[in-house]
Amino acid sequence: MLVRSRGYPEWTMIDAMQTRTRLTFAELPGHVHEWVEGVLGAPVVRTEPASGGYSPGVAEGLFTADGSAVFLKAGHPSRNPDSPALLRSELRTLRSMPSGLPIAELIDALDEGPDGWVALVLEHVPGRQAPLPWTNATIEAVLASLADLRGPLTPAPPGQWDDAADALRDMFSHWPELADAVDLDPWLAERRHALAAAADEALTELAGDTLVHLDLRADNLMLRTDGRLIVVDWAWAVRGPAWLDPALLAIEFISSAEPDVDTDAWIARIADDYGISADLIVQVLVGILSFFEHSGRRPDPPGLPTLREFQRFQATALRDWLKRSRHASALQAAAR
Ligand SMILES: Nc1ncnc2c1ncn2[C@@H]1O[C@H](COP(=O)(O)OP(=O)(O)OP(=O)(O)O)[C@@H](O)[C@H]1O
Ligand SMILES: [Mg+2]
Repeated sequence: MLVRSRGYPEWTMIDAMQTRTRLTFAELPGHVHEWVEGVLGAPVVRTEPASGGYSPGVAEGLFTADGSAVFLKAGHPSRNPDSPALLRSELRTLRSMPSGLPIAELIDALDEGPDGWVALVLEHVPGRQAPLPWTNATIEAVLASLADLRGPLTPAPPGQWDDAADALRDMFSHWPELADAVDLDPWLAERRHALAAAADEALTELAGDTLVHLDLRADNLMLRTDGRLIVVDWAWAVRGPAWLDPALLAIEFISSAEPDVDTDAWIARIADDYGISADLIVQVLVGILSFFEHSGRRPDPPGLPTLREFQRFQATALRDWLKRSRHASALQAAAR
């Protein structure tokens, strides 16, 4: 079973899945249209709504008669109270970034303040959302794009960035309470102290001075027509180690890849490329597994009937991988 266009962090999904339909460009008020068309320098004659992502705001390609295109993201607090803050956060991040990276560059932005519209006009990426399942070729391409980001984003550009450990601490910290779950897989239950220690250890290793995306999933990556992968949706960026993005993306290589993808080999490759141990990637994935195991047991949030199923799907994939991965032999031996 493949599940696409869903992922973590949970708060991203809750916003989005509660409001399944996105606002469209046509629904925006006249003054926002005028602002956008002023940026474009011509009227919008065609729009192309994005297929992926979660936010209830506008996410559309806008085209003018001469074929020029931009990508618009826009939100208003009356539609969703959180989306302006996410757009502002993305705006801050994009403004701080140097040019020439495999991202969709910011062209212009509108921020009307607390009760108004926030809109980002971005470079339009020709292509499509990165396809699932992951293949060896698309994994190679995404690792190349992440490698291209590493140098220019290290040290992190000046800004008020949260630290990765602070952003992930709560998610990684559920192993102690999972001990009370009667239905916890016995393999995990027997190892819960080792799992808690691994997740804690990961949190101590997240210091770094790279601006990392933190929310990498196929739906936040665009596959350009030239085969290059472009990283979009920078709302959650934090300061952390450069290896964190590929390590977190490995969740999708584990849960949603073609059968011929050797996940352990890719994890070894990421560890080599970034000069870290595969153990550390395992520890991060153990941390995230605590979040999926915990959240998957909670009641459905209102209007989100598929969220828990997805979290259980990710938990199952990660758990099964831990049981067999050659990188997790210490955990496999840790039963008592
Ligand atoms: N610059 C772009 N050009 C073309 N398509 C884009 C561009 N940026 C994003 N997209 C497409 O639009 C979708 C939604 O964009 P994005 O991921 O930035 O917002 P979002 O997912 O709605 O935000 P959030 O994840 O914060 O809810 C992406 O999944 C991608 O398919
Ligand atoms: Mg997105």
